[in-house]
Amino acid sequence: MNAVEIEEAISELTEQGFDPAEFPFAFLEAYGNKESTLKMLRNGKRNASDVDGAVLQRNNIHILVCDEGNVANSLDALRDSGTTTKAKAKFILATDGKEVQAEDMASGDTLACEYSDIPAHFLFFAALAGISFTKSIENPELDVRATGRLNRLYVELLRENPEWASPERRHDMNQFMARMIFCFFAEDTDIFVGDDLFTSTIEQMSDSKSENTHEIIAEIFRAMDTKIEDRKAGKFRPWANIFPYVNGGLFAGIRDAPKFSRIARTYLVHAGKLDWQKINPDIFGSMIQAVTDEEERGSLGMHYTSVENILKLLNPLFLDDLREQLAESGNNDRKLLNLRKRMAKIRVFDPACGSGNFLVIAYKQMREIEFEINKRRSETHLKSEIPLTNFRGIELRDFPAEIARLALIIAEFQCDVVYRGQKDALAEFLPLNAMNWITQGNALQIDWLSVCPPTGTTVKYRGDDLLSTPLDQAEIDFENEGGETYICGNPPYLGSTWQSKEQKADLEAIFRGKTKSWKSLDYVAGWFMKAATYGTHTNARSAFVSTNSINQGQQVAILWPLIFNLHHKIDFAHTSFKWSNLASHNAGVTVVIVGISNRAAQLRQLSSLSEDHRTVVKEVVNINSYLVAAPNVIIEKRSKPLSNQNEMTKGSQPTDGGNLLLTTEEVEALGLSSVQHGRFVRRILGSAEFIRGLERYCLWIEESNVDEAMKIPSICQRIQNVRNMRLSSPKAATVKAASTPYKFGELRQTGFERVTVIPSVSSEGRQYLPFGYLEPGTIVTNLAFTLFDAPIWNISIIGSRIHLVWIATVCGQLETRLRYSNTLGWNTFPIPKLTEKNKADLAKCAEDILLAREAHFPATIADLYKPDSMPENLRRAHDRNDEVLERIYIGRRFRNDTERLEKLFDLYTKMTTAEAKKTRAS
Ligand SMILES: C[S@@+](CC[C@H](N)C(=O)[O-])C[C@H]1O[C@@H](n2cnc3c(N)ncnc32)[C@H](O)[C@@H]1O
Repeated sequence: MNAVEIEEAISELTEQGFDPAEFPFAFLEAYGNKESTLKMLRNGKRNASDVDGAVLQRNNIHILVCDEGNVANSLDALRDSGTTTKAKAKFILATDGKEVQAEDMASGDTLACEYSDIPAHFLFFAALAGISFTKSIENPELDVRATGRLNRLYVELLRENPEWASPERRHDMNQFMARMIFCFFAEDTDIFVGDDLFTSTIEQMSDSKSENTHEIIAEIFRAMDTKIEDRKAGKFRPWANIFPYVNGGLFAGIRDAPKFSRIARTYLVHAGKLDWQKINPDIFGSMIQAVTDEEERGSLGMHYTSVENILKLLNPLFLDDLREQLAESGNNDRKLLNLRKRMAKIRVFDPACGSGNFLVIAYKQMREIEFEINKRRSETHLKSEIPLTNFRGIELRDFPAEIARLALIIAEFQCDVVYRGQKDALAEFLPLNAMNWITQGNALQIDWLSVCPPTGTTVKYRGDDLLSTPLDQAEIDFENEGGETYICGNPPYLGSTWQSKEQKADLEAIFRGKTKSWKSLDYVAGWFMKAATYGTHTNARSAFVSTNSINQGQQVAILWPLIFNLHHKIDFAHTSFKWSNLASHNAGVTVVIVGISNRAAQLRQLSSLSEDHRTVVKEVVNINSYLVAAPNVIIEKRSKPLSNQNEMTKGSQPTDGGNLLLTTEEVEALGLSSVQHGRFVRRILGSAEFIRGLERYCLWIEESNVDEAMKIPSICQRIQNVRNMRLSSPKAATVKAASTPYKFGELRQTGFERVTVIPSVSSEGRQYLPFGYLEPGTIVTNLAFTLFDAPIWNISIIGSRIHLVWIATVCGQLETRLRYSNTLGWNTFPIPKLTEKNKADLAKCAEDILLAREAHFPATIADLYKPDSMPENLRRAHDRNDEVLERIYIGRRFRNDTERLEKLFDLYTKMTTAEAKKTRAS
């Protein structure tokens, strides 16, 4: 269930009146428990409680309904019950139908409220539905409830007015919803004078059948678009005339409103009854984006990017610097004034701003700093000098663009209330500024300099490209001489396989003439390239959240040289971490934050997560395009190993039209004797067969046995099929292979060697790369890599943590899976010179890993390497292997993956430099 659905279910439960016997089950049902689970709790089979009359759901909650006035004692009884701990209850809850008390057993947080008020606190129990909210958000329940109410209203209005869903009217509908949100906010914050002025006017003036609701609303909106001095000519009824002049673009434009059914009118009233004053414009904005997006509606009330994550980007981008300047200024009036003046000229620009959460958070943070300045200068009465117009965005979709603008307006008002008081906030709020600083359009086609010129009106740079059409609305500008520009955001990542034709065209337009390989880039690469280009005209600094794939594997060599050619460097970065949404069952994507600019800097900040999930910040001299504190190298494919590891090749490619490869049933259908079976049939493995232990076979016919094989009709038929298939191929090499149809098309093994196998693609969740050391005679397909008759210490390398880290960084990923490559990953892997003793030690470690696996026969690789349930002996064997290998590298264990990569890049640079020197000398 999503958050909105839970809120609705809990509201319904409390509205129905209290049923003591039913409450525990109805409560659990509201948090998504199935009828079958509830049945077993009701009949006692799953009730783990030892408290009389209580219901205890294992790993979840212990609930007790009690007599009136006995709630506190009942909660004590639940807390004291041994079963609460034994059954790992996350919460305890006691209620008498009037009052509710509850406790979160992990955090110790408590809740005490009236029974009818549970809906206002429903997220206290969110963990019951697998949802987690960041503690830093105040009142997230309100944001979820507002989202839910608006969603109902939106859906009902479109049901009643299908034409408002048409492309021609979609913008009108979005603007209508934005106006409604503004009115709900305004009536709860005294922007409108009178209690719930908007909602109650509609309730009073529209008839109960709601036939004229749309006319009432349209009239109120018309008033808000009419200056007070023009009101007389506008002939307004008194109930509309009491609304202030708002405009600012919000109420300009469409004059009509969608028709309201009775249900829609009820939903409007329900939405209006919420207290919108404390809405979080950053959170709420992201959440309600889902309202108008059918695909996203399933996660209604869930989607938002946590403030902490956004600050991971904004802090190093510029906020830390402002705070440092504040600290340095102390109480020095002049220095404080300089900082205030500096902040008044800072532009923050998010060219994929969605509903504006980065901009809102940046604005709020800056207002906090400004307030501190004013406090120290004893000028708290002063109006803010930070203009909202310095917070600019581009957003493709219409509704989020509307919301972004509104969110900023709301944020400004809320900050004014907090820092200057309600009276001053109200005095200056209306009319809204008419300037539209959120541009709706495609950021990869619009000229950013026209939307966010860094300095005064004189700068009107236009790209040569016709697509870079500056929008009229963005031409509005004002002097900002000496200002700074910070570009930020989390643009859509979209790997190349997920991009639409139009998105590919966007990338082509940006990268045409710069690289032929733009097709392999993620969509987000377009934002980095545009930011660097923008940075060549201004002193901007930019940072985006991105998938880590642009700093891994093949994309590195395509994108980063282009950025560096524009004299940009990586200013700061945060290596991979999970960018999670609030639902914990939504695992989130793995992202990085990369900041770029052409500023000179002695040191750069590289942040990463330690193994215990703390953020570790290091000051480093350089951050390379793999986000490693190392020189700017691009790892290139090599045909031979850099160190003294053995050569690795792909397995053999059958090119057989399915005739040489056999399932178990097909082997049986060949009707072979056991001697023939031993002579002509071999086990064959690709990645999937190896990892999951699947059985697959192939015909394997030695030159000397061809005649004998061809006498067996079932084999002969298959060989004929292979010949025909190869002869009909357009490829010359395949046609040539038709002369030896009993053999694989591309044969890379004799069939008698001992094979080390490494799948070419494997799941990213494992702590080690999968590998096998196979009995002689096993055949490997081209879907895996192989070492033939290699000394076993090679396995110790392949199975080490340090190798996995290198592969993940250098080879990149296929969607979310790890991709292995012999030329890019194995041949480039730097290994210190190994002594015979080192090799013997590593060989022993490798043998121990294989022995540890054998103890679990017949468990497959997939079973053995499950991240959460790796057998202890196997984990120990790998750990020992890591210990021995890492001591060879640095004389001790590495502290983390960051350190591993730094060492590898350092060694790689030294080894390739020495190699190049040697080549030049010879
Ligand atoms: C990952 S969201 C981030 C939005 C916001 N920061 C948030 O956290 O909700 C990316 C946003 O980029 C917008 N977008 C996608 N393609 C775009 C384009 N070509 N130009 C401008 N915006 C685009 C999407 O509509 C979406 O709102």
